[in-house]
Amino acid sequence: MEKFKIYNIKDVNKKVNINGWVSKVRNLGGLVFIDLRNRSGIIQVVVRPDNKYYDLANTLKNEYVINVKGKIVERESKNTKLQTGEIEVETEELVLINTSKEIPFQISDDTTALEDTRLKYRYLDLRRESLKEKFVVRNNITYATRKFLNNLDFLEIETPILCKSTPEGARDYLVPSRVNKGKFYALPQSPQIFKQLLMVSGFERYFQIAKCFRDEDLRADRQPEFTQIDVEMSFVDEDDVMTLGENLIASIFKEVKNIDIKLPLIRMKYDDAIDKYGSDKPDLRFEMEINDITKIFKNTSFGLFKSVIDEDGIINAIVVKNAADKYSRKDLDKLTEFVKTYKAGGLAYIKYQNEISGSVVKVLSDEELNNIHNELKIEDNDLVLIVSGKKNIVKTSLGALRCKIARDLDLINKDDYKLLWVVDFPSFEWSEEENRFMACHHPFTMPKDEDVSKLLTDKANCYSKAYDIVINGYEAGGGSIRIHDEKVQETMFKALELTEEQIQEKFGFFVDALKYGCPPHGGFALGLDRLTMLLTGTENIRDVIAFPKTASASDLMSECPNSVDEKQLEELGLSIKNE
Ligand code: AMO
Repeated sequence: MEKFKIYNIKDVNKKVNINGWVSKVRNLGGLVFIDLRNRSGIIQVVVRPDNKYYDLANTLKNEYVINVKGKIVERESKNTKLQTGEIEVETEELVLINTSKEIPFQISDDTTALEDTRLKYRYLDLRRESLKEKFVVRNNITYATRKFLNNLDFLEIETPILCKSTPEGARDYLVPSRVNKGKFYALPQSPQIFKQLLMVSGFERYFQIAKCFRDEDLRADRQPEFTQIDVEMSFVDEDDVMTLGENLIASIFKEVKNIDIKLPLIRMKYDDAIDKYGSDKPDLRFEMEINDITKIFKNTSFGLFKSVIDEDGIINAIVVKNAADKYSRKDLDKLTEFVKTYKAGGLAYIKYQNEISGSVVKVLSDEELNNIHNELKIEDNDLVLIVSGKKNIVKTSLGALRCKIARDLDLINKDDYKLLWVVDFPSFEWSEEENRFMACHHPFTMPKDEDVSKLLTDKANCYSKAYDIVINGYEAGGGSIRIHDEKVQETMFKALELTEEQIQEKFGFFVDALKYGCPPHGGFALGLDRLTMLLTGTENIRDVIAFPKTASASDLMSECPNSVDEKQLEELGLSIKNE
C-alpha cells in the first residue's frame, strides 16, 4: 500500500488510478469536468465527448463514488487556490462504484448549513476539507505525544472505564449494574486515582490518552466526553513535572506546527494572575492589565467609592490605549451591561482627550483625576474603565471585560501563542453554597511545605503544589504533586471536615494503598481536545471531536440519549419515575 499523494505539475504524464467522491460535476462546452475528492484533497478529472465514458460521466451526481484511471496532464486554465490546480486527470477509464442519495447540505468549507443539520449527518459533515484537516492535526498531536513520552520510558497503560464513583468535582455519569442490582459504576472523570495507584505499583512513569466523562454544564470548550493526555511520575517535585510538561508541549508544537516555543515558560502565581488579569487563565497575547487604584480614593468625597472602601472593597481600572474616541456613550452602556453579567454594580469611565470627560469626572476631584492620569501613565485618547466593589467581582468582571475589548478592537494576533504556567493555587476555596472550605483541586493535592502546618488553622492562606498550563487564555492542562504522606493526608481530610466513615466509604481503598510504601509522585493532564482547538485555530470544541455532543449533551445523529426497553430496565432493577 502506498501513501496518499497530492499530484502536481511534476507528475505530468504519470498514469494514475484514483478512487473518491464526486465533489462537483460540470459540463462546459461539451467537456465534463469532475472535481474528485478523497483523503488527498480535490483533483480535477476531465472526460471528453469522444471518450467512451462520456455518457456515464454525464450521469454523475454529487457524492457518487467513482474510480478513475487516466493520465496527469497540464491544465489549460490553472486554479491557484487548489494544490492540484495546475493539473488534471485525462480519463481513460471511469467506473461508477456507488451512487448517493441527494445530500441534505452542500459539502463545502463555506457551507451555510446549520450546525444541527451538519451534526445530524456528521459523516457527511466530516467530508469537508477544513474538518478533515483538524483530525490530521489531532492525530499528529497524539503521535508526537507517544513518541516524546516513549523516548523517556513512560508506559502507556489503560485504566478502567467502569469505576467506583469518587468525588472529583463534577457530576458522575452512572452505569447501573445488572449483576449487582441497585448498584452503580461511574464513568471516570479522569484516571486520577488509578494513575496514582500505578505509582504505588512502581511503574514510575505512566501516560495514557484517556477518555474522561463529566456531567457538567457545557460551554464552547467543554464536552461531556473528552480526552486527556494523562501523565504521572514518581520521585519528582513540581519543577520536574512542569519541565517535563512544557517540553512535551514544545515538542508537540514543533512536530505539529513547526513552531518553536521558548522554554522555560513563564510561571505566574495564581494570586498575581487574578490581580493583574482577573482570571486563573490569563490571555497574554495582549496587555491591558488590571490596576488597583483603591488608594487614590483613600480620602475621597465620592460616596460610592467611599462606601466601597469602608466595606473593604476595591477600586480597579483597565486602560484601553488610544481608544477614547472609539467608544460612544451607547458602546459604553453596552460594556456596562456586560460587566453587570459578572455581578459588577456598574462601570465608570474616564476619557482622557484634550478635555477630560466621562461618567465620574464631575464627582472626582482634580487631584484624583490627576493621580489616575499619573499612576496609570495615561496618554492622549486613552480610555479608563473602572469597576468598584468586592474583590472577586471586580477582578472577574474586569478580567472578562479586558478579553472582550481585545476581541472587539482586534488586538489579538491570531497566529500568536502565549503559554504560561499558573502556579501556587490556593488549597481551598470557600463555598457559599456549602458554607465551608472545599478542596480547590482534589483532596490528594500536596500543600506547599510551609502551609502544611496551617491546614487546620488558616485555610484561607494555604497554597498547594498545583499548576495549570494556560495557552492563549485557555486552561490547556493542569496537575499537582500528590500527598504521599499518611499524616498529611489525614490532616487534609480533617481540614475538609470528612469523617472517618465518609473517607472509608468514598475512597477507603485508595487511602489504604497510600499506606503501602507510596512514592512521592505528581503529574498533570492536558486537554487533548483543547490543545487541538488551539493548534487548529477553532473556538468550537465540536470541530475537533469526530462525533461530538450538542450543548444539551445529545448526539443528533444517533439520537442519543434515548429511552430503553422496559425489559432492559427490568433486568437492571430500575424503573423511571414519571414526574
Ligand atoms: P482537570 O480537571 O484540570 O485535571 O482536567 C485536565 C484538563 O482537561 C481538560 N478538560 C476538558 N476538556 C474538555 N471538556 C471538558 N469537560 C473538560 N474538563 C477538563 C482541560 C483541563 O485542563 N486528574 C486531573 C489532572 C491531574 O491532576 O493530573 C484532572 O483531570 O484542558
